[in-house]
Amino acid sequence: MDKFVIHGGKELNGSINVSGAKNACLPLMAASILVKGKNVIRNVPNLRDTRTMAKLLRIIGADVVFENGVMEIDATKADNPEAPYELVKTMRASFYALGPLTARFGKARISLPGGCAWGPRPVDLHLKGIEKLGGNVTLEEGYINIETDGLKGALLHLDISSVGATGNLLMASVLADGETVIENAAREPEIVCLIDFLNKMGADIKGRETNVLRINGVSELRPVEFEVIPDRIEAGTYLLTAAAVGGDVLVDGLDPNHLTAVTDKMTEAGVNLEVNEKSIRITSGGRLKATDVRTDIYPGYPTDMQAQWIALMATAKGKSVVTDTVYEDRFTHVAELVRLGIDVKLKGNSAVVNGVEKLKGAPIMSTDIRASASMVIAGLMAEGRTELHRVYHLDRGYEDMENKLRGIGADIKRESGPEV
Ligand code: EPZ
Repeated sequence: MDKFVIHGGKELNGSINVSGAKNACLPLMAASILVKGKNVIRNVPNLRDTRTMAKLLRIIGADVVFENGVMEIDATKADNPEAPYELVKTMRASFYALGPLTARFGKARISLPGGCAWGPRPVDLHLKGIEKLGGNVTLEEGYINIETDGLKGALLHLDISSVGATGNLLMASVLADGETVIENAAREPEIVCLIDFLNKMGADIKGRETNVLRINGVSELRPVEFEVIPDRIEAGTYLLTAAAVGGDVLVDGLDPNHLTAVTDKMTEAGVNLEVNEKSIRITSGGRLKATDVRTDIYPGYPTDMQAQWIALMATAKGKSVVTDTVYEDRFTHVAELVRLGIDVKLKGNSAVVNGVEKLKGAPIMSTDIRASASMVIAGLMAEGRTELHRVYHLDRGYEDMENKLRGIGADIKRESGPEV
């Protein structure tokens, strides 16, 4: 298993480019199942997760070619409505196949996604919605089976504004008979991107950027070319890295409108930000102020940036409270960060951080994508050597991270190591 070897304590300088959004690409790839013909999706990051989704599409019977950030998906010959356990257990987003497979084939057989590093992640909202659209849902031997003789539009209300459930139910309803309304829908930019993609394919979806979506079913869709939005979580991760480590860094190729909750909090903490049309520049400005964060659904502060904020607050002046209201137990990173000298304690669904003068390098272990990102930030802040093991977690969601960071002067390299 690969590890990162980091020598921290050095300022960062230069420009770092943002890749396409992982969490936008994955539903777009799944949505390609809905149409016969070749979809061409551009600005696709080369990640474990996008490669895993490509594998799943091939198992379903689509032809997939992925080269130089361009994903060509032709699902004309797709004929296998099944997402196997071996694959779904490695990536929860495989569950995005549920809606498109049901809409295309009138049936689907999808392994229940397991939990993840920080606990169970239910799919009850996905299943309740599919049932209301006319899908007959059964569970056997860890697989969800859906049968329908044709989906029909319905009024759907999500108890929680689930990103995944909104995506799956959008993809299930675009070919359904009649109108579907999704109330309390997720408004994340990745969902807006999916709506734009589906509408370009000929779907009839109204209410983009709001939490009430109206979908008029159409008889068929056509293949399109489409460019994926920038990854706001990758961009936010590098913004916080620059703010935490210090220096003069331009994070380029982002959409600042997708990051206002993060940049507002950075400004509150005393970070020097220069916001441009497609980039943000961070320059050092002395010790930061401890600043509380509460995660929320979009446009609130993203849960996918919670771990990174704890790293930023590690050397801020004072006490900060970081609360996760979306995933109350998403704190596997805390025990590892303590090994670098961060003074942080858990209290329910909050982490209480008391700023210290400095961190010191140590061997630590990745647990999930965003936790690992917080460990890279802390390793770059810490004096001395940090070894970050099991970086395959990072490879799921950050394209070429070590080379992007080396490009702004970070002393970080990847080493292949033994099983840890
Ligand atoms: C998406 O996951 C993202 N993944 C996650 O990013 C992100 O953390 C999450 O949204 C929240 O923003 C992708 O887009 C591939 P949810 P998703 O359904 O769709 C509960 C990363 O690091 N819930 O919006 O699975 C759930 O338990 C990943 O890139 C139900 O109760 O998240 C959670 O508390 C990690 N029942 C809340 O809703 C359901 O049927 C939000 O989950 C579905 C969800």
